[in-house]
Amino acid sequence: MARAHGKVILFGEHAVVYGVPAIAVGISAGANARAFSAAVASISIGDFRARAGDGSELALALEALLAALGAPPYALEVELELPAGAGLGASAALGVAIARAVLEAVGEPPAEARVLPAAAAWEGVFHGSASGIDAAAAFHGGCLWYSRADGARRLEPGAELSLAIALAGPPAPTRSMVESVARLKSRRPEVVDKALAGIRALVDNARLSLEAGDRRSLGQLMDLNHMILSGLFVSTEGIETACRLAREAGALGAKLTGAGGGGAVVALVEDDAEPVLAAWRAAELRCFAARVMPGAGDS
Ligand code: PMV
Repeated sequence: MARAHGKVILFGEHAVVYGVPAIAVGISAGANARAFSAAVASISIGDFRARAGDGSELALALEALLAALGAPPYALEVELELPAGAGLGASAALGVAIARAVLEAVGEPPAEARVLPAAAAWEGVFHGSASGIDAAAAFHGGCLWYSRADGARRLEPGAELSLAIALAGPPAPTRSMVESVARLKSRRPEVVDKALAGIRALVDNARLSLEAGDRRSLGQLMDLNHMILSGLFVSTEGIETACRLAREAGALGAKLTGAGGGGAVVALVEDDAEPVLAAWRAAELRCFAARVMPGAGDS
């Protein structure tokens, strides 16, 4: 069975679109895939089924992935451990797990140079052209520094990170949230430029805190990053409530993660995520814990 990780962006979403670096971590929840030889390519994910030629997005994505690998048809059986479309990298995790399963089945090593282009072909069907941070995190796990200019580079956290993740409302499409920041930038360039400069400074500081294993300052930097994102109007009442509940339950910091407008919130905790999860469950939010170990990347 082949696996891949989901991800959360710890710092720098939205700013990354304008060339600022971002920090993302792979989480253990992700996707599993198995490939079986077949006359016609097909895929089943829970209740969703698709066959090559049926014109569905899922079928088109599978066809694009197999074409990128130059592979014959396979029947894919896939499990997804993440909510789709919530900013947790579900589609990239699927693409990477499926590409790995197909390469395993054809007897080829699942090298990054083969898997990532196939995952990009898969993601392209769902998202247009994706920045690549999700697929890199899905492939490597661990902690990544990412910029549009330089791609992904591994970071080594100096301490284990214990995270709590909640879904703070129905997710908004990433594309529309990115467009809303672009509109604000064209109307009020000075506001957005200041925000981008602020995020750049705190992403740099976050890298130092992460490598030093200083969770307290990482938490404070997450709060600051969230404040700046709220100033860009990508937060919602639901996200603000989830962040407040996490902080009141002892989180070191909390912020929206991904595109905002709904979707996921991530909180950093000292060690035990349970008090934050309990506060969220009491507010009827879907949530789970995730850990990032020092040196825990896969490759
Ligand atoms: O939708 P997600 O969680 O993959 O995050 C989008 C992150 C943005 O910075 C808002 C957009 C992007 O392409 O990087």
